[in-house]
Amino acid sequence: MKKINRIAVLCSGGDAPGMNAAVRSVVRYALYLGIEVYGVLRGYQGLIEDDFVKMSLRSVSNIINRGGTILKTARCKEFTTKAGRKKAAYNLKKRDIEGMVVLGGNGSFKGAQILASEFGIKIIGVPCTIDNDITGSDMSIGSDTAVNTALDAIDKIRDTVTSMERIYVVEVMGRKEGYIAIRVGLGGGAEDILVPHTEYDIERMCDDIKKGRKKGKISWIIVVSEGVATAKDVEELIHEMTGYEVRSVTLGHIQRGGSPTAYDRILASRLGAAAVEAIARGNSNKMVGMCANKAVLTPLSYASKHCKEKVALDKELYRLTKILST
Ligand code: F6P
Repeated sequence: MKKINRIAVLCSGGDAPGMNAAVRSVVRYALYLGIEVYGVLRGYQGLIEDDFVKMSLRSVSNIINRGGTILKTARCKEFTTKAGRKKAAYNLKKRDIEGMVVLGGNGSFKGAQILASEFGIKIIGVPCTIDNDITGSDMSIGSDTAVNTALDAIDKIRDTVTSMERIYVVEVMGRKEGYIAIRVGLGGGAEDILVPHTEYDIERMCDDIKKGRKKGKISWIIVVSEGVATAKDVEELIHEMTGYEVRSVTLGHIQRGGSPTAYDRILASRLGAAAVEAIARGNSNKMVGMCANKAVLTPLSYASKHCKEKVALDKELYRLTKILST
């Protein structure tokens, strides 16, 4: 097999805590194998605008514990055009870069697939998104940290909610999936969770709130996933249906920041190295994920498929949340 001499690494789409640990792993593992590495700034945007930096062992020092990404990231419209991708491929080829590791989510992997098949660049994706909505990896880098961050917020909200005997709606991120909502709902002892793919009934929930009040259950925390409704809409609806005072908060981008958890740092370190290993062995157009504690390659096209197993687990955890929150 022909030896790969030079690769690039970039972060694309929404940042996720643990991306820095993954960049560090890609750079240091590649240098260990004798492969040169270029970092591309601002994802596909920087690829098109020729914004490359040569990486060294020292350029990734002291970043394993930092949220965000030193390479910066972006969502790039121009990369969806053939002309944009042609510029990107030209900038890689003029440096003799034969392979690239893309740290990102579904949208980033779609772009990566097209670039790989149009211009023959060897691309390996590493799942990085707080949404954990990628098929082919039990967890994506960043999702564990996001859940812990949101959980910390819910714990704080609970202090004031119980003290003031209130009903509180907390909106969390997660796009069209309920990964974050279900975990913080169960882990934070929420009374109800509104998530995509799982039946919810606001009328029934309002009835429960009214009945609960009569029986002495005064405070309620309801977690809503952004894929279902906004916190404000749910707050107004509950107020209309019960007449009670309701408060709400949208946790927003707080969930994307902060120092990655041990879980995310370790996952990122393992997957970054596995991605380089995969490119060095001649693989392309694949994602490296962690399944049952083993690094596995799946086609990039598979990564954005709806993951039935994850939804089934969410339903199970939702059921448990409801039983335990009575
Ligand atoms: O995909 C990660 C994510 O944080 C989603 O949970 C959220 O819907 C979206 O990105 C927010 O995107 P932006 O940072 O562009 O507002």
